[in-house]
Amino acid sequence: MVATEALKNDHRLIEKVLHVLEVASKKIDQGGEVPVDVLKKATDFIRNFADSYHHGKEENILFKSMEEKGFPREGGPIGVMLMEHDEGRRYVRGLAEGIEKYVSGDRDAKKAIVENARNFAGLLAPHIQKEDNILYMMADNILSEAFQKELLNRFDLVEKEKLGEGKRQYYVNLADELEKAVK
Ligand SMILES: [Fe+2]
Ligand SMILES: [Fe+2]
Repeated sequence: MVATEALKNDHRLIEKVLHVLEVASKKIDQGGEVPVDVLKKATDFIRNFADSYHHGKEENILFKSMEEKGFPREGGPIGVMLMEHDEGRRYVRGLAEGIEKYVSGDRDAKKAIVENARNFAGLLAPHIQKEDNILYMMADNILSEAFQKELLNRFDLVEKEKLGEGKRQYYVNLADELEKAVK
């Protein structure tokens, strides 16, 4: 396995949770209830697995390595990806705030939950497609297989630092658990 494959595997998990957010926001929008626990766990997944860990590996390791090989940071596809990561962070903050307000009894907070969950899923699904089909292919063209294998070791360090050692498996299971919970 090379670094871009590992990142693609992350994408498949993130897509599961994006689907959970879409189903949950539709339910809430139509007047149904979604357990707060599901919303909180989905937010934890997005914040820690998708953003801190996955985007952390992209920003601090893959994109940086591409830049070191002469790939531009500003204006090109990396710049667009970084902007979208930032935009996603704003939606995740809005989602977490909405959930907090909802838990403390503010029924109007539903609107913030639905909007931010939808905006996040709507942003990240095509973002993932762009990375899978364009940016990672560019990375594969400029970073050798041997070099990418070294990056995997650095990914392990990010897991240790951002999630806790061996905690990736917890999020793999969580994505499945959440998928079942909204079925
Ligand atoms: Fe990304
Ligand atoms: Fe990604």
